[in-house]
Amino acid sequence: MSQTIGFPNDFLWGGAIAANQAEGAWNEQGKGASVSDVFLSGSHTEQRRASLDLSLDGHYPSREGVRFYDRYEEDIALFAELGLTAFRFSIAWTRIFPKGDEPEPNEAGLAFYDRIFAALRVHGIEPIVTISHNELPLHLAQTFDGWASREMIDCYLKLCRVLFERYKDHVTYWIPFNEINNLTLPLTVFMHGGIIPEDMIAFGDGSDDRTKRFQAMHHVLVAAANAVKIGKEVNPDFRFGSMTCHITLYPLTPNPTDVLLAQHDDALRNNFCADVQLRGAYPYYQLKWMRDEGISVDVTDEDRRVLAENTHDFYAFSYYMSVCASSDDAVAQTSGNIMGGARNPYLEESEWAWQIDPIGLRYTLNKVFDRYGVPVMITENGLGATDQLIDGQVHDNYRIAYLKAHIEQMALAINDGVDLIAYTPWAAIDIVSVSTGEVRKRYGFVYVDVDDNGNGTFDRYRKDSFTWYQNVIANNGVSSDRDDVQ
Ligand code: BG6
Repeated sequence: MSQTIGFPNDFLWGGAIAANQAEGAWNEQGKGASVSDVFLSGSHTEQRRASLDLSLDGHYPSREGVRFYDRYEEDIALFAELGLTAFRFSIAWTRIFPKGDEPEPNEAGLAFYDRIFAALRVHGIEPIVTISHNELPLHLAQTFDGWASREMIDCYLKLCRVLFERYKDHVTYWIPFNEINNLTLPLTVFMHGGIIPEDMIAFGDGSDDRTKRFQAMHHVLVAAANAVKIGKEVNPDFRFGSMTCHITLYPLTPNPTDVLLAQHDDALRNNFCADVQLRGAYPYYQLKWMRDEGISVDVTDEDRRVLAENTHDFYAFSYYMSVCASSDDAVAQTSGNIMGGARNPYLEESEWAWQIDPIGLRYTLNKVFDRYGVPVMITENGLGATDQLIDGQVHDNYRIAYLKAHIEQMALAINDGVDLIAYTPWAAIDIVSVSTGEVRKRYGFVYVDVDDNGNGTFDRYRKDSFTWYQNVIANNGVSSDRDDVQ
């Protein structure tokens, strides 16, 4: 039997959130409207309608989030009690530059994050900061067509400079873009890319201009590389993470056609951006695919130089699920966060039909570590599920089972030799779901008493998973194997 190595002593046990899903206070103390503030709530079956002039009646869940802006002290104290040694969160761009093109930042916004860093420091929690997570200023989307325009690079780098200078003594780990590969698919072209499809009336719809989308993708990649350059000038100890939404792909059958299709889709969806960010150039398969599809992107010699000279330091990814690739259109399909695929008959699904695949996490960890050879962080992983709050308690044994199974596979991957350094499950606390706008799709260790219409006390309750994860952290992952902590 092979010897078990286990989690390293300095392993970062964390939790994650994003500003637009947690903070609320969408127009307080100078904050501007972001792309996330225009969506009403929806559900798994009803798309989130968009109101670009912010005028539709209804409930806009991102505007209120779970009131982290007002209750961060209480929340960070809960995270400390949970035992978190890392906390991943994003900085709302529109708190710092409300419209995005102002010459000077908003001091009240910067001061808010000063307070967050101070609270984390008191509790010895390592911040992992996402600079852009579906929070680009609505004004930039409306003025420049978002990342389709090269001007966005300067607006973003102005934000980066301010953050790097202000927080250089508080942050080591920066993630320039959440799920940078999202623009390889049309679903989040507005929320992630700030491009407004002409006929968009709801989240994820509207016509897709692929040339524009991949031009935007290119600008994002160049912006991220420049962020690395500027950041290292400010503080050479900064560490930058390339972050991918990794939807692991298997061939549905051993039919070589399916195998080739899975390899192709995996390359274009999961590998392309990280290949650029960690290897410093567009990979051959991406260039060929764009050529074949007639997608011509403006790439300058200076862009190529910046990409080559400013690669990232670690690989981060979100992992919720896997899907299959099949050349047979008639096979059963399953849904997913940015893409679905053919249904895997060996896997169960969540209530929102995301396939649950813990072994796929070990497979993916080995894949990405082999490919890039840099430290790896799992910056999102978790189960969106409906919880029942009864007498102040939430018995979420399904969430414990999900996390336990994934942590076990992480331990096996470490044993395989993967340099896994952090795990920040989604989410540290209940937040608003991006795809549906629901709070009912809960991910947190901490329950927030609010419903999908924004009604509730917003009081916080520790779920059973809170006590369970507390035990996992206290035992550096060992207790995930023990039944008595479930
Ligand atoms: C990730 C995003 O893709 O999926 C998060 O980075 C998001 O912001 C998470 O919340 C889960 O998706 P959803 O749609 O359930 O919120």
